[in-house]
Amino acid sequence: MKLVVIDEPKKTIHDVRIGNHVKIYDFVNLYGCEIGDETRIGTFVEIQQGVKVGRRCRIQSHSFLCKGVTIEDDVFIGHGVMFINDNNPSIEKTRNKTWKLEPALVKKGAVIGSNATILGGLVIGRNAIVGAGAVVTKNVPARTTVVGNPAKKLEKYK
Ligand SMILES: CC(C)(COP(=O)(O)OP(=O)(O)OC[C@H]1O[C@@H](n2cnc3c(N)ncnc32)[C@H](O)[C@@H]1OP(=O)(O)O)[C@@H](O)C(=O)NCCC(=O)NCCS
Repeated sequence: MKLVVIDEPKKTIHDVRIGNHVKIYDFVNLYGCEIGDETRIGTFVEIQQGVKVGRRCRIQSHSFLCKGVTIEDDVFIGHGVMFINDNNPSIEKTRNKTWKLEPALVKKGAVIGSNATILGGLVIGRNAIVGAGAVVTKNVPARTTVVGNPAKKLEKYK
């Protein structure tokens, strides 16, 4: 056996507005989006067209930020977080291009735990916390912690 080194481009970055001191790890797919100053983008992250990521954010590996997502400053997105922008997809709507984009807003200082799923059309409030593995189906108020599927306010903080 031979040790093989394949020296191919390790990042796909097209038409992206990138702020100062941004760190982008390898094997990302970023296109038509905006990344604010001092933000870090982990390995295997995809960020689609029109997405805005604020300043000083952490987007950890394997997360997917689809079209329609806006992330304000100082937001922490854990590993494998999935955003959704069409809550009722169908192959017909996709073929006919009649699906309606349902945008999401994550406000300043919010934390989204690993493997959380955020349905379309929602707002995650300022400094809110979404627990690991949560499926968020409703807006999360500011400074509120939610966990579970469907995500509910964590009992100990009630
Ligand atoms: C939601 C979270 C912030 C709560 O932390 P906490 O306030 O310290 O809560 P506790 O550990 O005291 O747990 C309180 C209760 O909530 C439950 N709980 C905690 N996190 C939960 C989660 N993600 N999903 C479901 N239930 C959860 C605990 O089992 C416990 O239940 P009990 O009272 O019936 O025993 C944390 O558990 C979490 O999910 N953090 C995300 C971490 C992450 O994804 N980091 C990413 C990078 S490493």
